[in-house]
This record gives sequence, C-alpha cells and structure tokens, in this order.
Amino acid sequence: MKIKLIDLTIMGDERGSLIALEQNHNVPFDVKRVYYIFGTQDNVCRGHHAHRNLKQLAICVSGYCTFLLDDGKTKEHIQLSSPTQGLLIEGLIWREMYNFSKDCVLMVLADEYYNPEDYIRDYQQFLKESQK
Ligand code: TYD
Repeated sequence: MKIKLIDLTIMGDERGSLIALEQNHNVPFDVKRVYYIFGTQDNVCRGHHAHRNLKQLAICVSGYCTFLLDDGKTKEHIQLSSPTQGLLIEGLIWREMYNFSKDCVLMVLADEYYNPEDYIRDYQQFLKESQK
C-alpha cells in the first residue's frame, strides 16, 4: 500500500516544541493546498473516498483520530495521535477517518488544489479502478 509514516523532527528547547514543514524536504511534494478538520462531532466518520491523483500528508496536530486505509486488497487502521508524525498517502487508496477526539485538529497538506473530479466516492467504483 502506498502509505508511509514520516517522523517529523522537533525543534525543542526549554520553551516547548516547534515543527517546520517544508515542501520537497520533509513534505515530499509541492504543496498547493492545506486544510484542517476540527470540531468533529462524536461518532462521526469522514472521508469515504479515494483520489485518482493526489498526494497528501496528514498530521494530527492536536488530539487523535484513526484512518482506515484500503488499497482494494488490504485494509489498515492507523491511529494518528502525535503532531510529530505525518501519514503520507499516495495512489488509489480508499480512506475513512473515525474515532476523532474532541480536541482533534487533523491538518492535511496536498499537492493539488481541491478538485471534486479527482474523487471516487463510490466504493464499488473504487474497487473496479483499483483492480486495473
Ligand atoms: P468533504 O470532502 O466532505 O470532507 P471529507 O472527505 O474529509 O470528510 O468536504 C467537506 C466540504 O468541504 C465539501 O463541501 C467540500 C469542501 N472542501 C473544499 O472546498 N476544499 C477542500 O480542500 C476540501 C478537502 C473540502
């Protein structure tokens, strides 16, 4: 599966911690878009889609949430619970996000602008395209 956990280096001192994200350095693509999900209500599951052509790096900068990742053959559940860890998602991968803590802020960097046409929102269609 085209996913990878990236450890982000902390610049820490007696005042606390700082992490810098730099395109094509610790973020392995050109960054065109950043969005973040917060204030998620209890028992909400988001996502339910795959992208035909998008690279994303997801970082839970506060709290925690869990990703279900599915490449059409295998499924993985990955909990993000640290601002020092980035989840890189590339290729045709179905994703769902659930188990959000109340304080969860899930930040996502992407290599393309928002494009609804890049989404596959039907799971059967995703399975069809992932077998190609
Ligand atoms: P949605 O795709 O439902 O989010 P998720 O798949 O993470 O649960 O997006 C919610 C709304 O926000 C929807 O109207 C589309 C819009 N949106 C943008 O305008 N730009 C973006 O970058 C994203 C991710 C969503």
